[in-house]
Amino acid sequence: MSAAGPSQGTNCAPSGGVGVVNSAAGPSQGTNCAPSGGVGVVKAARITASVYTSHVPAIGAAIDLGKTAEPYWQPVFKGYEPSKAWMKANRPDVIFLVYNDHASAFSLEMIPTFAIGCAAEFKPADEGWGPRPVPVVVGEPEFAAHIAQSVILDDFDLTIVNRMDVDHGLTVPLSLMCGQPDAWPCPVIPFAVNVVQYPVPSGRRCYQLGKAIRKAVECYDKPLNVHIWGTGGMSHQLQGPRAGLINREFDNAFLDQLITDPETLAKKPHIDYVREAGSEGIELVMWLIARGAMADTPPRVVHRFYHVPASNTAVGHLILENVQ
Ligand code: DHB
Ligand code: FE
Repeated sequence: MSAAGPSQGTNCAPSGGVGVVNSAAGPSQGTNCAPSGGVGVVKAARITASVYTSHVPAIGAAIDLGKTAEPYWQPVFKGYEPSKAWMKANRPDVIFLVYNDHASAFSLEMIPTFAIGCAAEFKPADEGWGPRPVPVVVGEPEFAAHIAQSVILDDFDLTIVNRMDVDHGLTVPLSLMCGQPDAWPCPVIPFAVNVVQYPVPSGRRCYQLGKAIRKAVECYDKPLNVHIWGTGGMSHQLQGPRAGLINREFDNAFLDQLITDPETLAKKPHIDYVREAGSEGIELVMWLIARGAMADTPPRVVHRFYHVPASNTAVGHLILENVQ
């Protein structure tokens, strides 16, 4: 076997495509990919920014039904005006979008902990209001396959998904950040995380996974500007005696710590999320994947927004840029 084979040693796997993922099925060892940073390197993908936002389905319905100027919704959408302007001025080549499926693509029959969408496109689907009238999400199969290979060889056992519909968990953040275009501004790699049925991954696991994703991106030999998004949250509980729970103090402390001390935040146990941010507040662990993918140096806070209420949920939003 050639030393450059996809399942051996320290190869920084070039942009292999789906075939490379398939052929990586053999035994593999060690570090698969050395990030290609440093002097003289001109061709490498980079994560330049991360976006964090709630994904409340009623926000999608408000957009789709033309209600954004209504008094209830106006303050929510006002909070995303700077974000839409920032997106236009800082358009990425690819968005790596971490979200959770709400039994639209998966069901209780099969629940992957981490699933990477490697398809060429993903159709909108949804619970509740049904599929949203939004553009089909165009994927980036070759880059997704490269990330899958790198991250799996770094011992994170992703599920590879070659066909998947995407629900409000993914489309509402796109709408909040991009408005209502005829086509989304760039390809998206959907990355679905199980936060629906326990056991769900720990914050620490999510944070470490983010670091593995960063490494995978940095050894892709195309000069792509990549944004990574963490979605879901903030505090909310949709069922039981505590339905409607919102915890502003918890949410704002989470935002503070996500910016300044994600290492410590990553150690927060599940029970703290559930007690303080409600049963669906556990969606927030997904934000740690995006934060883990950012540089180790402090980020620039481009925008921060918090609003209550939106449906049953506190809306939280951050844009962080890596400082070059
Ligand atoms: C609501 C929020 C969610 O995150 C979700 O997935 C479904 C409903 C809500 O606020 O109603
Ligand atoms: Fe949700």
